[in-house]
Order: sequence, then C-alpha cells, then structure tokens
Amino acid sequence: MRLRSYIEDHFPEAVRLWKGHKARHLRGKSMEEVFTGIYHRNEWRDSKTRSGTASTLLNTQAVRAELPGLLGSLGVRTLLDIPCGDFHWMKEVTLDLDRYIGADIVEELVTSNMKFMNDIRTFVKMDITCDTLPMVDLVLCRDCLIHFSFVDSFRAIENIKASGSRYLLMTTFTRENAKNIDIVTGQWRTLNLQQPPFDFPPPISLIHEGFKPGGGRYADRCLGLWRIADL
Ligand SMILES: C[S@@+](CC[C@H](N)C(=O)[O-])C[C@H]1O[C@@H](n2cnc3c(N)ncnc32)[C@H](O)[C@@H]1O
Repeated sequence: MRLRSYIEDHFPEAVRLWKGHKARHLRGKSMEEVFTGIYHRNEWRDSKTRSGTASTLLNTQAVRAELPGLLGSLGVRTLLDIPCGDFHWMKEVTLDLDRYIGADIVEELVTSNMKFMNDIRTFVKMDITCDTLPMVDLVLCRDCLIHFSFVDSFRAIENIKASGSRYLLMTTFTRENAKNIDIVTGQWRTLNLQQPPFDFPPPISLIHEGFKPGGGRYADRCLGLWRIADL
C-alpha cells in the first residue's frame, strides 16, 4: 500500500492514464451492467463482503456505534439505505425505526438480502439516479457517489432531493485541499462534498469513520449529515 501511495503521489499523470485504460471496459455500459459486473467479479476484493474493504465489521466500527444515537437524536423513524450493498455491517446495527428500506441496483444483492427482511425491513431493487425514491426521514447514502461520474452523482443528488425526504447522511472526505476529480462510473476516488463541483454547505454533523487502511491516507473518511432542503 505504501508503494501504491508513493506512485500515486509522484506519478499522478501516469496513474491517471493507467486508470483511464483500466476503465475502458466500463464505458458505454448501463449502471446496472457496470455494478452487476463488479458484483460478479467481486471486484472490490474483500473476503467478508462484496461491498469492499470499507464495509467490513472492522472498518465500520465507528459508524455502527454512532448511527443509532444520531438517528435517535434526529427523531428518524423511516430510513432509506441506498445503496445497501450486501447489508453486511448493517445487519449488526440495532435501529429503532418504523421502516427500513434497503435498496440497490444489483438484483442478486437485493434477492440475497431478502433473508434479512422482517416486519420493518424491506429490500428493493432501485436505481438512485432515476427511480422514484420513497419519502423518508433520512436517506443514508454510504460509498455511492465515490463510484459515480460527476454527471451520475448530480443525477443521484437531484433524485434524492425530488423524494421530499428530510435528511441526507452521505459519504464525504473532509480534507480541505482535496480536489474532486471526475471518473467513469464504476471507478473509485475520494470526494469532498464541500468542494466544487458539489459545494455542499458545512454538514450539520459528521460521523468520523476512523478508517485505517491506506496508511492514514483516507483517515478523513466521514458520513456527513445535511438537511436536504439546504442542498
Ligand atoms: C461500495 S458499495 C456500498 C454499499 C453500502 N452502502 C455499504 O456501506 O456497505 C456500493 C453499492 O452501490 C450500488 N450501486 C451502484 N450504483 C447504484 C445505483 N445507481 N443505484 C443504487 N445502487 C447502486 C452497488 O451495487 C453497490 O452495492
């Protein structure tokens, strides 16, 4: 990982070209095809969860500890978790809710999550960029836009706004001098939502994820809370 960080820091143009080359198989595909392919190939390469390293129990300790209290303090009774991925870490969280809706674009993930359904929990196949989203107290959108091009990110944000939901809890990286770069949907990079082209206002609060992999490189990984009406 240190070698990777060194290469990324010292040869940014070569890294950009290499990533562009690697992304050629993603171009011209629908989002559903892209993420179903990633799921089938287990491209985020974690042995415990198909949602990648950031979704292991180890790397979600802070989120799992802080989420129930945050939702309780906001009076959240209904939650849309989009994308819910394989529900690996969320299955370990006890939330006091009237309704939890887990949604993802990959049909097989949604089908496999059905085993976690109960009186308050449902899972549905949904595309965050274009399907009509339910109106809920809070939309949880963890590790989603970091995989989207700017165009697809804005489609998702506008669609969340159109739902009439109240709060958004979304992945952001808080390092101030970070410049957001565009990618092909299906790739990955960090995003600071307070920086252009998003220019979100300061979040109401942050859950610091305490992310350790990457030698501290991604230590500013957070979930930011916003009132959707403020975006
Ligand atoms: C890195 S995983 C994160 C999952 C979960 N939020 C977590 O924290 O473990 C990203 C997920 O986004 C889903 N996804 C990608 N595009 C989507 C879209 N347009 N609508 C809904 N889900 C999408 C993928 O299928 C994948 O399961």
